[in-house]
Amino acid sequence: MKPETPYNDLPLLPPPRGVIETVSVLRQVGKTAAAIGELKGLANTLPNPDILLNAVVLREASASSEIENIITTQDKLYKALSSQNSQVDPATKEVLRYREALLSGYHTLQQRGFLNTNAIVRIQQTLEENSAGIRRLPGTALRNAATGSTIYTPPNDHETIQRLMKNLEDYLNEEDGLSPFIKLAVQHYQFESIHPFYDGNGRTGRIINVLFLVMKGLLERPVLYLSKYIIDHKPEYYRLLQSVRTQETWEEWVLFITKAVEVTALETIGKINLINALFEKTQEKARLEKPKVYSKDLLELLFIQPYCRIEFVSERLGITRQTSSRYLKELEKTGILTSQQLGKETLFVNEELFDLLKE
Ligand SMILES: Nc1ncnc2c1ncn2[C@@H]1O[C@H](COP(=O)(O)OP(=O)(O)O)[C@@H](O)[C@H]1O
Ligand SMILES: [Mg+2]
Repeated sequence: MKPETPYNDLPLLPPPRGVIETVSVLRQVGKTAAAIGELKGLANTLPNPDILLNAVVLREASASSEIENIITTQDKLYKALSSQNSQVDPATKEVLRYREALLSGYHTLQQRGFLNTNAIVRIQQTLEENSAGIRRLPGTALRNAATGSTIYTPPNDHETIQRLMKNLEDYLNEEDGLSPFIKLAVQHYQFESIHPFYDGNGRTGRIINVLFLVMKGLLERPVLYLSKYIIDHKPEYYRLLQSVRTQETWEEWVLFITKAVEVTALETIGKINLINALFEKTQEKARLEKPKVYSKDLLELLFIQPYCRIEFVSERLGITRQTSSRYLKELEKTGILTSQQLGKETLFVNEELFDLLKE
């Protein structure tokens, strides 16, 4: 197979069971399932599940975009999300579109209970803000960034791409007794190999990964920050995507993805424990030092995202702007919040939470 020849013969799923369901894979899958099970349970103990959802989705959005060299900071992202006045640069906008695509894909999944080609096309459209849809024109190839040489040319025949997508859709949804963690790896390889869009395939594929785990009931919400592991192992990620095709190294690929899920789930568990502890500590401090201002509802708002506008509190708590502003200023005196001026607007930052979420 020449790298320049469009791979219209990409085999349909499923791959032979023997090559993906090996002893080492099954051993890893056991560990992965345990970690994800623990994460699912723990995510329910948070004071407000939106806290984690917001934080993880934003981290996932920036990590997955970073794999494609779209770089911004958590600070810029939170400012753009919480302020009406901030100047938003193109990379930040693009990462926010990723967040939107992931969240709207999640809502579609909640309504329908499954993922199909249409849902996938909509995710990519939200991400790329265009309606090109599934590729019709030739010319898409994966190239080595340094040398420009072609590594892989995905199928280029429109009908073939559609047939492969239908096959992938069936594979995502059918119950075949195979562990969903193994299927996760298989479908991601296949999606990236079909490469159905002109652009955004890497990011759309990584959104599907997280949504797939939700679809299979392994997580209630898309709170797995999987792209972090991929960034940390980027050369291996690229190498393995390629060698499944050229050397049929399915086992290595499945091990890579299932391990990624385990490691990330364990990291996310650590994060939740830290958020819970910080919430308790902050709540205690507010209750002791500002009993007239303290309420659980107010504290929860300060944990939904680390940057808080006065209007956000007044809208959510149904209080006047003046009262809201006074509450936030009182909490600033205790050190729980720090105010920051952004144009004419004041933002109140929960710095400890920000520090915890940003790494
Ligand atoms: N050899 C390969 N075979 C299949 N997919 C690959 C290969 N190398 C990289 N990829 C996938 O292609 C993605 C890049 O495709 P692209 O459409 O540019 O996505 P994005 O616009 O999100 O960057 C990578 O993130 C990776 O997921
Ligand atoms: Mg790209």
